[in-house]
Amino acid sequence: MRKKIVAGNWKMNKTLQEGVALATELKSMLSSKPNCEVIIGTPFIHLATVAELVKGSVIKVAAENCADKESGAFTGEVSAAMVKSTGADYCILGHSERRAYYHEDYAILKEKVLLALRNGLKPIFCIGELKEEREAGKQNEVVKAQLEGSVFNLSAEEFSNIVLAYEPVWAIGTGLTATSDQAEEIHAYIRSLIAAKYGKQVAEDATILYGGSCNDKNAKELFSKPDVDGGLIGGASLVAEKFKAIIDAF
Ligand code: 13P
Repeated sequence: MRKKIVAGNWKMNKTLQEGVALATELKSMLSSKPNCEVIIGTPFIHLATVAELVKGSVIKVAAENCADKESGAFTGEVSAAMVKSTGADYCILGHSERRAYYHEDYAILKEKVLLALRNGLKPIFCIGELKEEREAGKQNEVVKAQLEGSVFNLSAEEFSNIVLAYEPVWAIGTGLTATSDQAEEIHAYIRSLIAAKYGKQVAEDATILYGGSCNDKNAKELFSKPDVDGGLIGGASLVAEKFKAIIDAF
């Protein structure tokens, strides 16, 4: 069964105390069960505290990254096993900010996805094209290469544990959103690639989120499309009322 998900990505925002306050507020707002799964993606240092805080509620927790190595002398890195030990269930990987600023290429991301899965984390794997690529009509080519480069090596069973997030880079933090028709077109294309690789059922069950200036005003329209299974939310996930309004779009 395909899951509907609204996930927040706090990025590098909120001190521990501010993050705890936001998670507490959200938890109390979500006392009645929403029509989708709710995930909050927090910085590493928040994970254990926030996971404990939301335990038993409808909220699940995601890390925003993990290391591409199992363990050892990698100063400053955080392994997938460490993330899992905090109580987090998900791990955002392949975000365009990590690809652009921290040079995470297909091979590094392939390792990270494998390590996350082996350690019992569900990757939320982000793909999406740059503005110039969209203008050149290359968006399909780009997402295909990203999938082939980092996740299409997985078995069908492994692949069924990942969530995809289509995030056009030109829409992230810019206030420019893909129209619901643009989102639907590429989400349907992504699903067709999954069907060609893993078969119709795996594709039908795959959750594909949209991310990029998704907010309380446009979420309902985006989520009404048959291949848009929810959202990965940056800015609007930092304000409890706004995030809740997006969840309520389902
Ligand atoms: P914004 O919602 O701030 O555009 O960010 C989207 C995003 O990058 C989520 O991962």
